[in-house]
Amino acid sequence: MILDGQDSHAIERAALALRAGELVAFPTETVYGLGADAANDDATRGIFRAKGRPSDHPLIVHLPDKLRQAESLSRFAQPLPAFGRALADAFWPGPLTLIATRQPGVGAAAAGGQDTIGLRCPDHPVAQALLHACARHGVPGLAGPSANRFGRVSPTTAAHVAGEFGDDLLIVDGGPCTVGIESTIVDCSRGAPVLLRPGVITRAQIERVAGERLRSQAELAQPDPRASGTLESHYAPAAKVRLMDGRMLQSALDVLGAQAAHIAVWSRTPLKSRSQRLILRRMPDDAAEAARQLFALLRQFDDEGAKLIWIETPPDGPEWEGVRDRLMRAAA
Ligand code: TXA
Ligand code: MG
Repeated sequence: MILDGQDSHAIERAALALRAGELVAFPTETVYGLGADAANDDATRGIFRAKGRPSDHPLIVHLPDKLRQAESLSRFAQPLPAFGRALADAFWPGPLTLIATRQPGVGAAAAGGQDTIGLRCPDHPVAQALLHACARHGVPGLAGPSANRFGRVSPTTAAHVAGEFGDDLLIVDGGPCTVGIESTIVDCSRGAPVLLRPGVITRAQIERVAGERLRSQAELAQPDPRASGTLESHYAPAAKVRLMDGRMLQSALDVLGAQAAHIAVWSRTPLKSRSQRLILRRMPDDAAEAARQLFALLRQFDDEGAKLIWIETPPDGPEWEGVRDRLMRAAA
């Protein structure tokens, strides 16, 4: 059932359902999350069942902003190191997840049994209204992975979530997500900042605020096998995705000529085809706009019956790193 996120009664109803241990999907600026009371391990285990996600694959806990934040933060995590505190101050609320040392005795299910926990304060008014309503009812944070079945494309509208889980799930509608790809994840539990997943906040922005060089997972003595970056095929639509440069795309279309069918193309380079049955979409020149469109477009290509999705390799610039990462995974 879809609830209107602008309606305070609907928010109250969602908060009470969460308090009672139910699952509720909610909007964030990045993608929709599938939420449960993070302090209730039984409720949180329901997320793994619903998603079909391995139970050792940790979830992100969403926290309220402002006055309630410090209280919720200290409930789930031990104090962040100075660079982590600086990152939270600079980018929360916003599309940044910080991995911190977990407070023993809380959030074990959300953390997938690890002694660390992922935390994020989302920058979406409906998410914040819900998190504050939850806090008033004694729910300090919402465990919430992206509201899709395991390995599939993350949802950026309430309708996408309903398509994944059906109408029985309570879904708080907050409109289409404005960021469109999942948060940047920085591990703050290893003494120096480590980038676990790129997003729209760039490496340079993180390093400037953290005052430290951002390490990559490859530099760690023990890379975390459960961290998102290490799963090969992720964010994958049903159709087969391939990345190509603009010239190669045009040659492939030339070879197929009028025969090109069941192919969807997303490119910055303007392309020509003699086929009437080709789906051609223009990739925006702006990385943020491309991120916003990406997941909805992959779903749309599936719905339009594409068997192949050909995408022009995005530019090398740092602002494209998040989009490049998701496309490479979709193509893996
Ligand atoms: O933008 C987002 O981050 C969205 C919205 C809903 O907030 N959430 C999201 O959640 O993308 P999910 O579960 O699909 O991805 C979270 C990733 C996981 O792949 C997991 O590996 C990593 O965060 N993660 C969470 N807790 C961790 C931990 N303690 N250590 C290492 N990685 C962790
Ligand atoms: Mg996900």
